[in-house]
Amino acid sequence: MTCLINPSILSADFSRLGQELEAISTADAAHIDVMDGHFVPNLTWGLPVVKRLKEVSPLPFDVHLMIEDPDRWAPAYAEVGCESVTFHAEAATAPIKLARSLREGGAKAGMALRPATAVEPYLDMLTELDILLVMTVEPGFGGQAFLDVTLPKIRRAAQAIEGSGADLILQVDGGITSETIVRAAEAGATCFVAGSSVYGADDDLEAAIAGLRQAAASVHRH
Ligand code: DX5
Ligand code: ZN
Repeated sequence: MTCLINPSILSADFSRLGQELEAISTADAAHIDVMDGHFVPNLTWGLPVVKRLKEVSPLPFDVHLMIEDPDRWAPAYAEVGCESVTFHAEAATAPIKLARSLREGGAKAGMALRPATAVEPYLDMLTELDILLVMTVEPGFGGQAFLDVTLPKIRRAAQAIEGSGADLILQVDGGITSETIVRAAEAGATCFVAGSSVYGADDDLEAAIAGLRQAAASVHRH
């Protein structure tokens, strides 16, 4: 099974983001959490910062927009070259139109669901997406505990993706450690965002990434 490990720079040292991106060169992508202080009660960075980081880092950027009105703001992240742009279903007014405009902008289109948002209303639009993100914590902060209550939804989403024939990445984000990654992978997740378990690793970030990769790859799904 191909598994992708995307460290989240939300847990990095914000005074040296360029170096913190260099330290995860073995990752599949850098996960960039954009928060607006409205959709979630926390504020990070916006387009100018992401654009500048993109210029100095060779890693693909996996942008997670925890913002209101993504219909208005998300396409610009595709236009500055971010490889994938994920908006929240709860915040989008016209998710199909938005996903199409992200693809037209050259990015993978991602849609995220908060832990209590059901996947079923969105099953017919899976073919419009490249990434489905099932949040495994309430979005807004790093360092929270993985919510096992989301596992059945991951399982149902994985089955629906398989049934649809669409080539979708099933991403999970929040509380991913070398233990919880096994449960998420068993449920069918294929892409794992990890903030504190990578940037919280004392010195060797690449070893932390390798450990997560190994733990996810040890899972054989049937
Ligand atoms: C939370 C963010 C996550 C966060 C995960 O709202 O979307 O990407 O960085 O952090 P950990 O891995 O520490 O739960
Ligand atoms: Zn995130």
